[in-house]
Amino acid sequence: MAPIYLDNAATTPCDPAVAEVMMEYLTPEGLFANPASRSHLLGWQAEQVVEQARRQVADLIKANPREIVWTSGATESDNLALIGAARAYRHQGQHIITSAIEHKAVLDSAHWLAQEGFEVTYLQPDAQGVIHPEQVIEALRDDTILVSLMWVNNELGTINPIPAIAERLQSHPALFHVDAAQAAGKLPIDMQQVPVDLLSLSAHKVYGPKGVGALFVRREPQALIEPLIHGGGHERGMRSGTLATHQLAGMGKAFEIAAQRMSQDHDHLQACRDAFLKALEPIEYIHHGGQAHQVPNLLNLGFTGIEGETLLMALPDLAVSTGSACNSASVDPSFVLTGIGISREQALSSVRFSFGRFTEVEEASRAGQWVAEAVTRLRTP
Ligand SMILES: Cc1ncc(COP(=O)(O)O)c(C=O)c1O
Repeated sequence: MAPIYLDNAATTPCDPAVAEVMMEYLTPEGLFANPASRSHLLGWQAEQVVEQARRQVADLIKANPREIVWTSGATESDNLALIGAARAYRHQGQHIITSAIEHKAVLDSAHWLAQEGFEVTYLQPDAQGVIHPEQVIEALRDDTILVSLMWVNNELGTINPIPAIAERLQSHPALFHVDAAQAAGKLPIDMQQVPVDLLSLSAHKVYGPKGVGALFVRREPQALIEPLIHGGGHERGMRSGTLATHQLAGMGKAFEIAAQRMSQDHDHLQACRDAFLKALEPIEYIHHGGQAHQVPNLLNLGFTGIEGETLLMALPDLAVSTGSACNSASVDPSFVLTGIGISREQALSSVRFSFGRFTEVEEASRAGQWVAEAVTRLRTP
């Protein structure tokens, strides 16, 4: 029997409707033409498919389709936002603000910029993983050109008050970049209401394919970014490279479904989470970030006295992760958990469980029972 997959924060399977759409743009019978080919009808038709996908992605975040720049995923979107904006605004200042528990795509871009001479302030989150508007305002300087914060933390599920921070930043010229990879499809995102300048998106967290994403780049007021990838001038010069019609059509379909199903998905994830937690009632655990507003699909739990890796080995039929997948090769405790003040030992005893559209409530309950049994067994002297 296949393991129960509770690692949807690392990646989600493609919705079957997404995979079906993607197949239309690959084979000789399909619309495989280069969407930049202007010399024949097939190229024009492929371009229309790409533009429809652009509208579908824009619609989920209430943006103008012309504000969507295709990328290879949220990692590239974050790189393009930070490095692209920093280089474009370098003449106005060299100070950047972010937080200590961002995704590595943001933190490593910030470190890179520090080597280029930029100065980076890393805000410290509270014990739940939240960055507060006052902290951002206090850190602002006359030479601050960019603030970059995530909407939902990928290890904790904690939600940052992005609308409030964006509102407070209105009186300062710095651009505001938000990594929404874990927020899209989980929270309502409205770029007409929330004055964010740059927003990173990924398809594979929203039941779309891996290897494709987008960066929202506001047009009014215009956010400027210098491209990182040159050649051909695609995406209005911001990101060159032949557009992958099948990937984009898949992302578009995934975002369309996410918009239609947001409240249904939310209720389902909540039901999975409740069933899982109910099964954990017999045991003691710590819910990291549990006092904050959190998305319903993700639980980061600490099991005092048991190493997360040991617990995972005791649960071979459960696909979950200790810390973020990007760091799974190292045995260091999660920097996100230690970043919110959790001890090294406690961090190493933590496991992230994340539910998805295709998790069955009964599976979540069964997984919870397995965890409770394994924890009880491992705690028995
Ligand atoms: C918050 C956050 N940002 C960025 C990324 C990177 O996204 P991608 O895998 O599309 O490059 C992820 C996923 O790992 C994420 O959770």
